[in-house]
Amino acid sequence: MNKPLAIEVNHLYHSYDKTEVLQDVSFSVKKGEFVGIFGPNGGGKTTLLRLLMGFTRPSKGEIHLFNKHPKDLRPHLGYVPQINRLDKQFPITVLELVLMGCLASSDRLGRLSAKSKDKALLALEKVNLLDKQNHPFGTLSGGQAQRALIARAIVDTPQILFLDEPTASVDPAAEEAILDILHQLKGSITILMVTHDLQTIVRKVEKLLCVHRHVHTLLPNEVCEHFGLGLYHSPILPLGKKKGGM
Ligand SMILES: Nc1ncnc2c1ncn2[C@@H]1O[C@H](COP(=O)(O)OP(=O)(O)OP(=O)(O)O)[C@@H](O)[C@H]1O
Ligand SMILES: [Mg+2]
Repeated sequence: MNKPLAIEVNHLYHSYDKTEVLQDVSFSVKKGEFVGIFGPNGGGKTTLLRLLMGFTRPSKGEIHLFNKHPKDLRPHLGYVPQINRLDKQFPITVLELVLMGCLASSDRLGRLSAKSKDKALLALEKVNLLDKQNHPFGTLSGGQAQRALIARAIVDTPQILFLDEPTASVDPAAEEAILDILHQLKGSITILMVTHDLQTIVRKVEKLLCVHRHVHTLLPNEVCEHFGLGLYHSPILPLGKKKGGM
C-alpha cells in the first residue's frame, strides 16, 4: 500500500533581502521516512527547515505537511534546533526544558495537564537522561544537551521531527546514542535530520536531500564520497543518459 505524503514541496523559492537562498525546490517525503539533509555551510538547510515548520514564509511556492499548511500542523511538529543558536545559560532544569515541549497541548492559560510530567519523564528515559532531570540545562555536556533537546522535541509525539545538526560537536559514542534514539522512532514518526556526517547517516536513512540553493533528492547508493569532502556534483550516470541536473 502506498504511504501518504508527510511533506510536499512545490517550486519553492526563498530570498533574504535580495539574496536568493533557495531556488525552485520541489521534493516529497512519505509518512514514516527517515531523511538525511546535507550540503555546504550557508547552502540553505536551516532556512529550509524553518520554511517547512512555517517559521518563515517562502518568497514563492507551496509547502504542505499532511495536506495542511505548515502553521496548522505546528502543534504536531518537533524541532531540535542547531545548538549554536541556543542560549545554554538560560536558567531552566532539564525537566522544565522537556516540559516546554508539552506547551502546545496546554490549556488556554498555559497550564500543563497532570500527564505532562509523566510524558516528560518517559521522554527523558528514552534519551537516557532521567538522572539529570533536576540539573540545570546549562551544566549538561554537548551530547547530553542534544539528547535533552531531542526529549523536548518528542515529548508530545510529533508527526514530523526536524533535527538541525543534532550530532554536531558530540563524540562518536554520543552520536551513536542519538542515532539509536532516532532509529527507534523511525517508522512511527517522519524524521528529517540535517547533518554533515554523511558517512554515518547514509547507512541509516531512506533518502537524502542535498541542499545548496537547489535541492536534489538522492538515494543512499547515489551519495558519492566526494560529497563528504564538500565537492557536490550530479549523480554520475552512464554516458548517453541525461542528467537529472544538480
Ligand atoms: N535571517 C537571515 N537574514 C539574512 N540572511 C540569512 C538569514 N538566515 C540565513 N541567512 C543566509 O542565508 C544563507 C543560508 O543560511 P542557512 O542558515 O539556511 O544555511 P545552512 O545550510 O543551514 O548553513 P550551516 O551548514 O552553516 O548551518 C546564508 O548565506 C545565510 O547567511
Ligand atoms: Mg544551518
